[in-house]
Amino acid sequence: MNFDLSEEHEMIRQAARDFAQNELLPGVIERDNEQKFPEKEVRKLGELGFLGMMVDPKYNGGGMDTISYVLAMEEISKIDASTSVVMSVNNSLVCWGLETFGSEEQKEKFLKPLASGEIHGGFCLSEPEAGSDATSQKTTAIDKGDYYLLNGTKNWITNGKSGSTFIVMAQTDVEKGHKGINALIVTSDMEGFQVGKKEDKLGIRGSDTHSLMFQDVKVPKANRIGEEGFGFKFAMKTLAGGRIGIASQALGIASGAYELSLKYAKERKAFGTEIMNHQAIQFKLADMATRIEAARLFCLKAAWLKDNGLPYDQASSMAKLFASETAMWATVEAVQIHGGYGYVKEYHVERLMRDAKITQIYEGTSEVQRIVIGRNVLKG
Ligand code: CAA
Repeated sequence: MNFDLSEEHEMIRQAARDFAQNELLPGVIERDNEQKFPEKEVRKLGELGFLGMMVDPKYNGGGMDTISYVLAMEEISKIDASTSVVMSVNNSLVCWGLETFGSEEQKEKFLKPLASGEIHGGFCLSEPEAGSDATSQKTTAIDKGDYYLLNGTKNWITNGKSGSTFIVMAQTDVEKGHKGINALIVTSDMEGFQVGKKEDKLGIRGSDTHSLMFQDVKVPKANRIGEEGFGFKFAMKTLAGGRIGIASQALGIASGAYELSLKYAKERKAFGTEIMNHQAIQFKLADMATRIEAARLFCLKAAWLKDNGLPYDQASSMAKLFASETAMWATVEAVQIHGGYGYVKEYHVERLMRDAKITQIYEGTSEVQRIVIGRNVLKG
């Protein structure tokens, strides 16, 4: 077993670290305050090849592995989780699904511009009444011969306004339950496509989260991903990889908070010495370092399994569960270490604490991860 990163992995990590420091850090507080989408920053992320990292270069991707993706996600998320969610959704929920299950025509038409960062996309599974219970889809895609007639509402869509290509899960045959669900590629220029209200969120405030409405949208049959009725399995398989991305985002939020806390503890004095010399602070830093390292190993293991063609559903759920719980806990500790300064925006840790919460919710709540892990361990 070898825990060393290759020279190439180190280079990718450094490139992501430099990008985060130079491009993301300067405006991150302002974007959070103003709920401003990181448009220029996302464009640059695309130019770096970080929006289609794992896609084959023949479809304009970066041809990198999942380990590289984890490393880059951690570095970007240390500074700006609003930007890293755009990156995660585009890479693992949109590009990966299209490359793995899409037709050649779909890859040429949709994957190429998505992987190069020319455009970005979203993944539409959640509905007002179908979140964790994802098989209860109310959005319908009625078979009309050479097209599907799409009607319904999707909620909590990352990149809802900024994105232009969406993978939408919809029910075609209610009688068949989840086997009647299809995954359709829908573009924002289709007639009847409407962007709903922007959510005013606790965290990741720079990302644009919207509801999307479809009213009699005619989606060509050629835009269906996979066989008729493959939509739910498509969503589950895609989310298994997506959860590695969100786990890495949570890891980055936690390690960003830890690095800031360590720096602060070395500078801040109380009771005649730097606060790092007080055991109360040292123990917090020790626990943070330990849990964060464990989260990193979980993320890298899930990525390694995926890269080696081995089953990774359980590993990705374990990584997401552990990393997101760690992010929430570690960011609260980081605010505590910073005292009053932790409670104001200038010191960044309060934002990281707000950003951490969503990692326990999206792409499957912590409770859903426990369902997936529980079912897998019972099989063993
Ligand atoms: N791979 C392949 N197939 C899978 C699978 C996987 N990983 N997981 C489930 N399936 C299949 C099952 O085998 C089953 O098929 P069969 O009937 O043919 O055996 C089918 O899918 C239904 O599965 P379940 O019976 O397990 O379904 P369930 O109703 O019990 O739900 C669940 C399981 C794990 C709770 C699932 O509904 C789930 O993951 N819910 C959470 C949804 C979620 O993560 N939403 C996030 C929205 S996306 C988002 O947040 C994006 C963003 O913008 C950031």
